[in-house]
Amino acid sequence: MEIAEKKEHIRKIVRRARFEGKTIGFVPTMGYLHKGHVHLIERSREDGCFTVVSIFVNPLQFGPSEDFERYPRNVERDIEILKEASVDAVFIPSNEEMYHVQHLTEINVLKLSEKLEGAIRPGHFKGVCIVVAKLFNIIQPDRAYFGWKDAQQLIIIKKMVADLDFPVEIVPVPTVRDEDGLASSSRNIYLSSEERKKALILSKTLHKLKEMVELDKISDTKILIAEAKKMISSENVVIQYIEAVSLETFEPVSRIEKNTGILVAIKAGDVRLIDNVIWD
Ligand code: PAF
Repeated sequence: MEIAEKKEHIRKIVRRARFEGKTIGFVPTMGYLHKGHVHLIERSREDGCFTVVSIFVNPLQFGPSEDFERYPRNVERDIEILKEASVDAVFIPSNEEMYHVQHLTEINVLKLSEKLEGAIRPGHFKGVCIVVAKLFNIIQPDRAYFGWKDAQQLIIIKKMVADLDFPVEIVPVPTVRDEDGLASSSRNIYLSSEERKKALILSKTLHKLKEMVELDKISDTKILIAEAKKMISSENVVIQYIEAVSLETFEPVSRIEKNTGILVAIKAGDVRLIDNVIWD
């Protein structure tokens, strides 16, 4: 596995792979890798891609009171995981390498970025879009792999790619869960064992909603949201939002049908967790 810290280096590696006729698959990450990331890498490898991973904790997507400083980092461990997963190249830029000059450019996917996560984390998606756009320009992948766990991020990136004609295919990959059902996330490390037990109500609730829709044929979102609120409130966690929305506009929907989802954010102690169930 080749390791590049400079843009020129990773470009050279990718140019060579492309010259050899390979398709470039890209998995952007903020490191502290878990099995969700490994699943994205596996998808890229199954597609026969020369697989490039980036590790960069992007300061622009964290609000002033968020966890940028304490975001978990362990590059040595990440490199071992990437080697094990047979990744071809990893790009690990410094902050200076990514943001060497003062940035005056913004990318704002209007409307979609203002709702749900965007309402709670103003500016978050602008930060995500700028770093992903830069990484796409640096690496120039043919395909980029994103998890459904961050459903809003995935849809906003897809829209950015369509609006700005990036020549990259966005490949959505299902959420990976830990053995207890919690969606895999780097931030799960913040949970105490007590908080983790409480947080499990999130995946249990989403599982129940899926059953209500698919087995009991209940599609009225009022009924589904009421049931979700009742279940989640049985644990001592705070619901930040729970909404049934269109996966195109994030506008609320009254019935579950194709291309809709129920997106949830809770706080267990100080730890924010997001998860969803989608019908795509
Ligand atoms: O999902 C993430 O880990 C980040 O938002 C991403 C896409 C790597 C951009 O920093």
